[in-house]
Amino acid sequence: MSNDHLIIFDTTLRDGEQSPGASMTGEEKVRIARQLERMRVDVIEAGFPAASNGDFASVKAVAQAIKNSTVCGLARALERDIQRAGEALADAASSRIHTFIATSAIHMEKKLCMTPEQVIEQAVKAIKWARQYTDHVEFSAEDAGRSDPDFLCRVLEAVIDAGALTLNIPDTVGYSVPGQFGELIYRLRERIPNSDKVVFSVHCHNDLGLAVANSLSAVLNGARQVECTINGLGERAGNASLEEVVMAVRTRADVFGCTTRIDTTQIVPASRLVASITGFAVQPNKAIVGANAFAHESGIHQDGVLKHRETYEIMRAEDVGWSANKMVLGKLSGRNAFRSRLTELGIDLGTEEAVNTAFARFKELADKKHEIFDEDLHALVSEEASSNTQQAYKLVSLKVCSETGETPFAQVVVSAHGKEASASASGSGPVDATFKALEQIIDSHAELQLYSVNNITTGTDAQGEVTVRLAKDGRIVNGLGADTDIVVASAEAYLDALNGLYNKLERAHPQV
Ligand code: KIV
Ligand code: ZN
Repeated sequence: MSNDHLIIFDTTLRDGEQSPGASMTGEEKVRIARQLERMRVDVIEAGFPAASNGDFASVKAVAQAIKNSTVCGLARALERDIQRAGEALADAASSRIHTFIATSAIHMEKKLCMTPEQVIEQAVKAIKWARQYTDHVEFSAEDAGRSDPDFLCRVLEAVIDAGALTLNIPDTVGYSVPGQFGELIYRLRERIPNSDKVVFSVHCHNDLGLAVANSLSAVLNGARQVECTINGLGERAGNASLEEVVMAVRTRADVFGCTTRIDTTQIVPASRLVASITGFAVQPNKAIVGANAFAHESGIHQDGVLKHRETYEIMRAEDVGWSANKMVLGKLSGRNAFRSRLTELGIDLGTEEAVNTAFARFKELADKKHEIFDEDLHALVSEEASSNTQQAYKLVSLKVCSETGETPFAQVVVSAHGKEASASASGSGPVDATFKALEQIIDSHAELQLYSVNNITTGTDAQGEVTVRLAKDGRIVNGLGADTDIVVASAEAYLDALNGLYNKLERAHPQV
């Protein structure tokens, strides 16, 4: 790999999934992975196989599906974790094991209860275990941003000797600032004798809003891999956002002097897909992928852009995929057109029966809404996938009454564990009344943490995509619903979240 190639390592499926409530099913992960592959991401971190059987299965499924990107699995510096990662990645065309151990004094002493010498020894062992499964082993010094640079040099030199090919320097708690973080990368590269044998990588969290700035400062100082996520998703305040890093490096090639192999026209479709699957909507003023990122409001700006685009635009909307939102299918589209568009989107429904069911839903939607966009198809497939998982609660029917001057009222019929039950309630609005009626039946006592509605496409006939986040007993679950009727979408999202709470999926956290 030439020295001016910046490796884009996407961790949406692993660190991104650590955002509370952002868990994804195996099928959703494969769908996102296919979009990342289409975008030409170099490395896809597919998950943490030792976390649970579900995580193991989804890393395996991604490894089997992806041919043109390296698939990576995370593992603590433990033999069992590494073995699970190795097994999950066995079918990958190109694989990588990413193993890590904390190197900051606070983590070593308070969390790991290990001495610095023990940490070095464990890190070296981890690289050797991982090398039995793959040639490409990446090592992360967790909490490097707060680690003693002298100690970091010792650990990193030892893991290079043991066979690590990528050294990742994470700012795990988002504590670093750009000048200092860039200098750390510079000093590590300069001081570690065998540093020319490896690629330096960074993984920055956004607690101070500096993840992208820190990553770019590291690039200026020789880092040649950036770990990032679509829409900046990730633990707490998230990770560096892929779209911002990629577009900064591309737009300011004069400053950074390196290039990525990303097909930037796939950025907006990737952002929308991840937002729709995780239920984490993109703020309108988010750089690159926010709805307003290319909207010029002021008359002076509009006038300038009309006269000469570059007066106020440093990037072209179509270069990041804004024009990709094209009408694809309609009421008269047949089964073959439907199927081939799904294939183009990387969606594999598996069986003929699943295609038939999805096609029936598509026809129902096309009756209500004349133009069906890619985003509608993704929402439809997400709904289809969740209706295939075990569902304790299903919406049978919903009637709402909303009239000026009257209290809104809802009547619902739900199938709960195979038995139908009905309830009615009034509320401050039709959605509130619907949720109250659902609670009368289910009595979950879950806390509603988030309710949001987004239109999937434009126009008043667009489907509303609703996200409901519920918390109960320390677990947080997102539910999604999409329909041209937003009250129906809301009821479906509420039940989807309840089903998520009901189907408890236990998974370990990588950083414990
Ligand atoms: O933030 C972090 O330190 C991580 C590591 C596992 C790379 O996510
Ligand atoms: Zn992280």
